[in-house]
Amino acid sequence: KKLINERAQAAPDVDGITGHRRMRRNRKAEWTRRLVRENHLSVDDLIWTIFLAPGSNVQEPIDAMPGVYRLSVDKAVEAARRAADLGIPALATFGNIEQDLRDETGSNILLAGNLINQATAAIKAAVPEIGVITDVALDPFTSHGHDGILRDGEIVNDETVAQISRAAVIQADAGSDIIAPSDMMDGRIGAIRRALDEAGHHNVGIMSYATKFASAYYGPYREAIGTAGLLKGDKRTYYIDPANAAEAVRDAALDVEEGADMLMVKPGLPYLDICRALKDAFGMPTFAYQVSGEYAMIKAAAANGWIDGERVMMESLLAFKRAGCDGILTYFALEAAEILNRRG
Ligand code: PBG
Repeated sequence: KKLINERAQAAPDVDGITGHRRMRRNRKAEWTRRLVRENHLSVDDLIWTIFLAPGSNVQEPIDAMPGVYRLSVDKAVEAARRAADLGIPALATFGNIEQDLRDETGSNILLAGNLINQATAAIKAAVPEIGVITDVALDPFTSHGHDGILRDGEIVNDETVAQISRAAVIQADAGSDIIAPSDMMDGRIGAIRRALDEAGHHNVGIMSYATKFASAYYGPYREAIGTAGLLKGDKRTYYIDPANAAEAVRDAALDVEEGADMLMVKPGLPYLDICRALKDAFGMPTFAYQVSGEYAMIKAAAANGWIDGERVMMESLLAFKRAGCDGILTYFALEAAEILNRRG
């Protein structure tokens, strides 16, 4: 130790910077940067979020999400094939339900043959090796765009939980591998777990949207699933206030206790602190949902030539790994997987 100190004193001193403290030595070449790299993004980390549309041979563009389409079930099956061939482990599906099937209570969610369940069954039949994650919440099915049953101006918690628990069993019957409740009702994880177990679906997992914030980043998604024009008011009585981190951890703790298998943070990039906090607090498989607004921002800036879209995309995905996430739900999954596979 003494020797080191003497050497240090003897080292040339440039404006008070001693020669033995040079961070740049490890950055000097690609081979050394590779050696010291702490985090890696791999295809294994990607969950591809896709939109479904009724009909067949449908591939409708979404204005605010260039490169993303609403796909009819046949097209979704083709997309699932492509994803599996690229090595993507799982898909998460979201449906643009026909407007005239939407009602006050979102009853279409309980139909075994609804768009979501049709797609799950078709994908699992054609591409059994890919995991299918289904979102369970009422918003694509309600005439008011809320995630729960609306009564006298209130989203009623317990009735909503009963309904989505039944819906979760129906989704599992159709072949869903993981149920992802995105509604933020209290007690839903425990109720869904019990319902799945009672129906014999003990191998179907639950990925909880444990910390879902009342965010403005969901705008393009609401266009994609046709809830933008419907939503009355906002979701602040059930989603978490973007100002709150400790509350987010307490909310996630309940989900862990109630039996969640995986946790999710949503939106993603603006909430990396929450990703880290959950990973450190629970050590659970933790995922981030890089949401529609995040995708739109990167695509828009790239289209204007203001940023290098590909590099920003890859950097944003890597940031989730650094923040402790095990994986990312992202509209970029296919593009990113192609790049990762090219790199080998
Ligand atoms: C609601 C739900 C939302 C998203 C997925 N499921 C938010 C909302 O509309 O309030 C948003 C996903 C995205 O923006 O990409 N159950």
